[in-house]
Amino acid sequence: MTTLNYQWIKNKWMVAFLACSLLAFQVQAEDKQLYNDLGGADTIDAITTELLDRILVNEKIAFLFEETNRQDLHDKIVNQICMETGGPCEYEGLDMIEAHSGMDIKYSEFDVFVSDFIAAMEAAGVSYRLQNRVLAIFAPMREDITYE
Ligand code: HEM
Repeated sequence: MTTLNYQWIKNKWMVAFLACSLLAFQVQAEDKQLYNDLGGADTIDAITTELLDRILVNEKIAFLFEETNRQDLHDKIVNQICMETGGPCEYEGLDMIEAHSGMDIKYSEFDVFVSDFIAAMEAAGVSYRLQNRVLAIFAPMREDITYE
């Protein structure tokens, strides 16, 4: 069962990643409408709450967040999603290389984070098409975040 689950997550992530790679340039250049399409601040706040509810207790990655101040990370992720999707926010946190340096985050841990991100969007009522548009922005950050 666990193997099946893992395979399912892997397959889903692979499909999303391929789609994202194909769309990434186009979306980054043009997808400034995404913030509004998502439903603005309320949806982004809900996604972030759902995301933190998952990653902070996910036994595969929670150990990395032992020292983390939840509210602070929440506010930074909200601002980042808002800005990256074309919303009226300024992300003022660290860039992705600085934020994750020294953590030795593996591809497998990145995949766990992304599957929690997908589950969070699902729980926040974000449609599959919109989920893909969000992933197209965040998936290319993998190389800055991971160390492998
Ligand atoms: C696209 C994926 C990701 C995004 C957009 C993201 C975003 C962020 C942001 C905005 C911060 C705050 C930076 C700051 O302090 O200024 C942060 C910190 C952090 N991220 Fe990520 N992250 C991602 C993936 C991951 C993954 C895969 C892991 C681990 C498996 C991870 C673990 C952490 C940890 C431990 C911190 C430090 C939190 C603290 O301040 O204690 N992140 N991330």
